[in-house]
Amino acid sequence: MCVMERDQEFWDWIEGIPYELAFWNNTYRWNTSFDGLMHWSRIGKTIQLAGFDASAFLAGFDRPVVLDVGCGMSYAFGNQVETSDGMHPLEIHYIDPLASFYNKIKERYHRDMPDIEFGMMENLSITHFDKGAKLIIISNALDHSSNPIRGILDALNVLDVGGCLYLNHHPNEAEAEHYKGFHRYNICTNEAHQMVVWNREKRIIVDDIIAPFATMETKTMDNGFIVNVIIKKSELEHYPQEANKEAYVHKLMALLEVSQCPSYTLKMKMKYAWYNTIQFFVQMLPYKYKQRLRSLIYR
Ligand SMILES: C[S@@+](CC[C@H](N)C(=O)[O-])C[C@H]1O[C@@H](n2cnc3c(N)ncnc32)[C@H](O)[C@@H]1O
Repeated sequence: MCVMERDQEFWDWIEGIPYELAFWNNTYRWNTSFDGLMHWSRIGKTIQLAGFDASAFLAGFDRPVVLDVGCGMSYAFGNQVETSDGMHPLEIHYIDPLASFYNKIKERYHRDMPDIEFGMMENLSITHFDKGAKLIIISNALDHSSNPIRGILDALNVLDVGGCLYLNHHPNEAEAEHYKGFHRYNICTNEAHQMVVWNREKRIIVDDIIAPFATMETKTMDNGFIVNVIIKKSELEHYPQEANKEAYVHKLMALLEVSQCPSYTLKMKMKYAWYNTIQFFVQMLPYKYKQRLRSLIYR
């Protein structure tokens, strides 16, 4: 029998892993879906973020460090910066909790892409504290985490003063995805144009939480995506670094426990096999058919 005090949010999050892995495994397996992804990706090009001039922002720093947190395997934003004297490579770190799985997927299908580093947004201070980050990007990942508010606070803790935390997400993703997989939280804006993180149990206004040490601009883009540009104004006073370390150790212990529990690993393997079979066929399809299929399912 497997016994452990549970951080239920994190255990729920673990349940989302098989779907995410099956998705990327089959996106990288098929040339149709991989080429489609690479067509959209900006790897080798200038950094570009919807609703924020990242090139202009980064041009003011010498060899700026950028963290793409919850990067998945999309390499979406570009790794060069353009200044008056030409193009310069950025020091960009691709970070994801599923890094070790993603690096194996790259190898399996012989896709020559940059390595991904292990890290979780809620505990970024533990893995990436001294990087001197000027820009942290969390795109389509904040609402996939087990605790988005801790994710925002810990990313701000890691960021240099004057740096930018850039968030981009679909509105109310958990509602749209019926709280399946990693989709446990919704993000939206209220009438006062504030950022709201909510689910069936809680509703939190982010502007109030970060106001003492950061400013935030929230925009809704033409495609409906929500962008938050957060500039860090000062260090986070009394940041609970020790509690954060403790939470991190608890997560590692939970993962260790999962790996030692045969019934749980069997359940996860079966889930993965199921999603992997579905994604095997879905990712074979050209993009427009995938979109049609998606709208049929979630009609
Ligand atoms: C939909 S993908 C987004 C990929 C990429 N950022 C993009 O915009 O295309 C979501 C990613 O968030 C990652 N993720 C989930 N929980 C996370 C956490 N707590 N910290 C960082 N990343 C997380 C998942 O592993 C997954 O790779």
